[in-house]
This record gives sequence, structure tokens and C-alpha cells, in this order.
Amino acid sequence: MPTSSADRPDRPDRPDRARPSPPIAIRPARLSDAEAIRGIYNHEVLRTTATFDLVPRSLEDQERWLEARSGAFTAIVAEDRGDGAGEVVGFAALSPYRERAAYRTSVEDSVYVRRDRAGEGIGRMLLGHLLDVADHSGFHAVFARIEASGEASRALHERCGFRLVGIEREVGRKFNRWLDVALMQCLLHERPAAR
Ligand SMILES: CC(C)(COP(=O)(O)OP(=O)(O)OC[C@H]1O[C@@H](n2cnc3c(N)ncnc32)[C@H](O)[C@@H]1OP(=O)(O)O)[C@@H](O)C(=O)NCCC(=O)NCCS
Repeated sequence: MPTSSADRPDRPDRPDRARPSPPIAIRPARLSDAEAIRGIYNHEVLRTTATFDLVPRSLEDQERWLEARSGAFTAIVAEDRGDGAGEVVGFAALSPYRERAAYRTSVEDSVYVRRDRAGEGIGRMLLGHLLDVADHSGFHAVFARIEASGEASRALHERCGFRLVGIEREVGRKFNRWLDVALMQCLLHERPAAR
């Protein structure tokens, strides 16, 4: 089933580029956030190419994923403390980049914002915070693997100091089409100060 342009992750309706109002808070994820996180994630699994997962996560899958991200590989959430009254409206996480030991200084990120809250600056808050955490945890390089047509994600990462390393062509297949992956990298000691 092809995605419609309205459903594509790279073309969220961008309201008016308003910045998040103060009540958005970034905090470590808790096990009790599993349901909200999988709601955000499973939308992308089922309707977009932002993730190469094909099967939605169960609550148990999501809890296991969170348990594996309670140390240096961390997960954080954006919580709306205003009208949203504590709702989780986005999340970001660090995952191992490669298994072999010499890769241990590198890490891979992921960032997801609830579709109805896209374009408010929440992704930037999450990714900026995640890079701080990666830095404090002693990682050296952060990688992002982004479906190549994902303009919003590529622009977000570029804004946060990532540079394009290269394009992996036709490495995935979803919704009956080949998908390219843009590999982007941020060397943490080179990243620009937050703007
Ligand atoms: C990618 C995503 C996380 C961006 O989050 P967001 O909260 O909408 O982004 P922000 O409002 O913080 O915007 C940050 C920057 O991204 C860029 N951006 C955001 N939306 C964009 C769009 N639709 N088109 C082009 N650039 C966009 C801009 O450069 C923006 O910075 P600026 O406005 O200060 O110049 C969000 O669209 C999303 O969750 N998409 C689906 C999941 C996904 O693709 N995740 C990445 C996989 S790792």
C-alpha cells in the first residue's frame, strides 16, 4: 500500500514554525511511557517509511525496548505539561551502532514526534538533548540512518550538526518500493553550539 503525501513522515503539515511553548519538558523515558511511545512509533510503522519495521510493536516489545535503553543507551521523551497535561508527544533514543567491540564509541539515534505536533520545534529539543546525553555518556560519534526521501528528518539532523556521509541505495523495501537510506553523522566534539 503506497503512502499518500499527507501520510509521509517528510511532509508533516508545518503549522507556522512556532517554537514549542514553555510547557514542553524533556525527561528520561519510564516504563509507563511504553503505550504512548508505541502509539507514536506504530503510526510510522503502518503508514510511512520513516522506520523499516513492518510489524507494529506490542506493548511487551515496547517495554523490552525501553528496558534495553535505561543505561548509556538511553531513551527520552517530550512531555507536554501545558494543555496536554503530561502527554508524551515525542521520544528519542540511542541504540548500539554495530555489535563489534571497536564500534563501542559510536551510537545510532532515533527521533519521533507525534504527527499532530510536528513542526513545533519538539524534534529539535529532543535531538539536542539526546546529543548532550550521548556526549555525557562518553560516545564520540552519533549516526542517523534516514530513509532518503525523509526531508524533515534530514533537515532536523543537519540543523543539529549532522553531515551526510553517503546514500545506501535500495537497501530496503516497504509499500512495494525500494528504499534508499541516507547515512548522517555527528562527531560530538565538532557539533555547533545550540542556536
Ligand atoms: C523528523 C521529525 C522528528 C521532526 O520533528 P519536528 O518536531 O517536526 O521538527 P522541528 O519542528 O523540531 O524542526 C526542526 C528542524 O527540522 C526541519 N524540518 C522540520 N520539519 C520539516 C519539514 N516538514 N520539511 C523540511 N524541514 C523540516 C527544519 O530544519 C527545522 O528547523 P528550523 O525550523 O529551526 O529551521 C518529525 O517530523 C517526525 O517524527 N517524523 C517522522 C519520524 C521520523 O522520520 N523520524 C526520524 C527517523 S530517525
